[in-house]
Amino acid sequence: MATAGKVIRCRAAVAWAPGKLSVEEVEVAPPKAGEVRIKLVATGICRTDEHLLQGCFPNAEFPVIPGHEGAGIVESVGEGVTSMKPVWRILLCLPLHLHGIDFMTNLTPPSALHSIKYKYLRLLHSISEPQHLLPDKTTQYTVAKIDAAAPLDKVCLFGCGFSTGYGAAINTAKVKPGSTCAVFGLGGIGLSVVMGCKAAGASRIIGVDINKDKFAKAKELGATDCINPRDFQKPIQEVLTEMTGQGVDYSFEAIGHKDTMIAALASCNMSTGVCVMIGELDSGSEISIDPTLLLTGRTWKGTVLGGWKTRECIPKLVSSYLEKKFNSDLLITHTLPFAKVNEGFELLRAGKSIRTVLLF
Ligand code: APR
Ligand code: ZN
Repeated sequence: MATAGKVIRCRAAVAWAPGKLSVEEVEVAPPKAGEVRIKLVATGICRTDEHLLQGCFPNAEFPVIPGHEGAGIVESVGEGVTSMKPVWRILLCLPLHLHGIDFMTNLTPPSALHSIKYKYLRLLHSISEPQHLLPDKTTQYTVAKIDAAAPLDKVCLFGCGFSTGYGAAINTAKVKPGSTCAVFGLGGIGLSVVMGCKAAGASRIIGVDINKDKFAKAKELGATDCINPRDFQKPIQEVLTEMTGQGVDYSFEAIGHKDTMIAALASCNMSTGVCVMIGELDSGSEISIDPTLLLTGRTWKGTVLGGWKTRECIPKLVSSYLEKKFNSDLLITHTLPFAKVNEGFELLRAGKSIRTVLLF
C-alpha cells in the first residue's frame, strides 16, 4: 500500500478517564521488527471493552484505547515478519487489544508505545500473558489470516465474542448430543454459547436472563426454554434442578457476577455436571463457595477465546460461517460509523444491543 514505510495519521477512540471516549487523531509509525500494521475495517463492541472503560482492570491505566474485536487488512509488515503479507484479510484475536484505532501496529506493548506518537496511550495488552510480549509470538498468535471472501463487518465478532461463547460449549464443555444445558446471560457471549450447545446437539438449552427482551433471539438461536430469575421466589439453581430432575449436564456463566457464577455451578448436576465460567469479574476479585459443590463431583472450568487456537482455528470458523453452518449475523443488532462509538456503548449499557459493529 502507498502508506507502507510512512508514519500515518488515523483516528482512535481514546478513553482519558473511566467512562468516556473521545475520537482523536494519532500518528502510527511503520511497523518495527516482528510487527504488522493493519488497516481496520470493522470492530465489534464487547462487554469487556465496557469493563475496561469503567476502570475494572487496574493494570490497564488511563488513557487507554479500548477495543479487541477487529477485522481488517494487513497494510505493511515489519522486518522479519514472514507469516503475514500486505492486503491479507485478517482478524485480530484475543489478547490483542487495540482496535479503537483505525490503523494499528501489532503489538508488543513496549514497541507499540514507541510507534504511537502519543506515548501516553496505554494498551490493555499490557495485562496479557508474558508470552505475548514477544514480537514473533504476538504476530503468530493474535492475528489470523482469513478467507478473502469473508465480510469483515460480520466476522469481526470471531476475534472474541462469538468464538468465546461458541467454543465454550464445543471445546471447553464438550457438550454431548442429547444433553441439557443452562446458559446464564443472553448477551452476545451467552447467545453464542446457545448456538454452540445447539450445534453440539444438546436437546434442552435453558436461557437465564433478567431481561426478558433477550428471550426471543435466544429461542431463535436454539434455546428451548428461557427463564427470568426474578419470576421465582426460590434461587434459580433450585428452579433449574426441578426443571431437569437433577440439574443440567452443562452450565455456562456469561454475565460476570459472583452470585450468578455460584448459581451456575450449583445448577449443574452434582456427579457429572460441568460449569464453564466466561463472565469477567473486576481484576483482583475473589469468590468463595461451599466446597461441597465441588466435592460432590462437579467440574468448574474457565475458557479463553472458547479454547480455539487463534491462527489455526479461527480461520476454520470463518470458513464454516461462509459455508453457512451457523448464522452469527443474528448477533449483530446495530452497525454504526466509528464516529458514533459512544452511541454504541450507550446501546450496550442500556441492554438494547447484542453486538454493535463499528465501521471505519
Ligand atoms: N441474572 C441473569 N442475567 C443477568 C444478570 C443476572 N443477575 N445480570 C445481567 N444479566 C444479563 C443481562 O441482561 C445481559 O443480557 O446478562 C447479559 C450480559 O450480556 P452483555 O452485557 O451483552 O455481555 P456479553 O458481551 O455477552 O458478555 C458477558 O462475558 O466476556 C465476558 O466481559 C464479558 O462479563 C461479560 C460476559
Ligand atoms: Zn471481548
